[in-house]
Parts: sequence; C-alpha cells; structure tokens
Amino acid sequence: MRTVTMKKIYQHPITQKYVRRSGMAHAISVAYHAFHLAGAYNVNSDWAAKAGFLHDIGHYQWYKDGEWDYQLYRAYDIHPIKGAERAHKLLVRLGEDKQAAKEIAHAVLFHTESALPEGEFELKALQKVIHLADEKDKQPGDSHHYRNIDRKKELALIEALDRKIDRLPEKLNT
Ligand SMILES: [Fe+2]
Ligand SMILES: [Fe+2]
Repeated sequence: MRTVTMKKIYQHPITQKYVRRSGMAHAISVAYHAFHLAGAYNVNSDWAAKAGFLHDIGHYQWYKDGEWDYQLYRAYDIHPIKGAERAHKLLVRLGEDKQAAKEIAHAVLFHTESALPEGEFELKALQKVIHLADEKDKQPGDSHHYRNIDRKKELALIEALDRKIDRLPEKLNT
C-alpha cells in the first residue's frame, strides 16, 4: 500500500516552487507517459509516475540580460543532479518508502545525458522509462517547458493518475 500519493507531492510547496519553474504541464504529461510505459518495462507504476512528475524538479533559470540563455544552460546545466537531491528530500519528508525514494532519485539523475558518463553503460528499466517519457513530451524550441494548463485541470489530472495507480494490481505497486 503506498503512503505518498501524487496529490500529496503535487500540493507540496517545494513542488509548486520548483516543478512549476520548468513547467507543470510538462511534468504531468511525463508522469502519464511514464505510468503508461511502466507496464511494458515491468517497473513499478507508482515509482514511474512519481519519477516522471519530478524529473525536472532540479531546473533553475539561466538568464543573461533578462532573457533565457540556452548557451549558458547547455554549457553549465546540472539539473538532473539538483533534481535527484530535491526529489529525494521531498519524498523522504513526505514519508515515502526509502527504497522507492532512492530508485526515483536515481531515475531523475539519469533522465538526460548531462549527468551521464561517456561510453558504455546500461540504464535500469525505471531510468529508461523516465528518459523515454521525457523524450515523448519534448517539443521544438523547448516549448514543452512553457506549456500551461489551468490549476484546476492540473489537480484533476493528478487525481485521475492517483486513481489509475490505485486500480493496478498490487504486484506492480510494491
Ligand atoms: Fe530534464
Ligand atoms: Fe523534461
């Protein structure tokens, strides 16, 4: 039985501050993609939805003269590292299972190339799911970070995802 719902995570001020910074609509959409991919990759759907939702929680803004500077961002960004730590702290604070918090934090850390070493390595299934889920929602010019939906709709989508997770057989939720 899970103790931390998507709704609890969504409503936390840390989530509202940092996830909103990189786009709440993108986060929710990646959470849904991850949830749907979880079955095919035989990973825990609750963990996948949470990792998908929190994958960009480490973002911060790269501004130069008041405008977002993509060159600075590409050269110096470490959002997967900050995100892994933030997601882990938030989940543990909310009372998340320690193993779940660790696996979710690792999936956040490895969701994009910038935190990965060069050469051959193999991602765990949950990490692969989050990477693929993020790729599915990417839009040209990084506009996925700026897509908006109203807050009522956000909450309705989060609650619907909680119900989907709760309806799944126990074995995918342990
Ligand atoms: Fe990212
Ligand atoms: Fe993303």
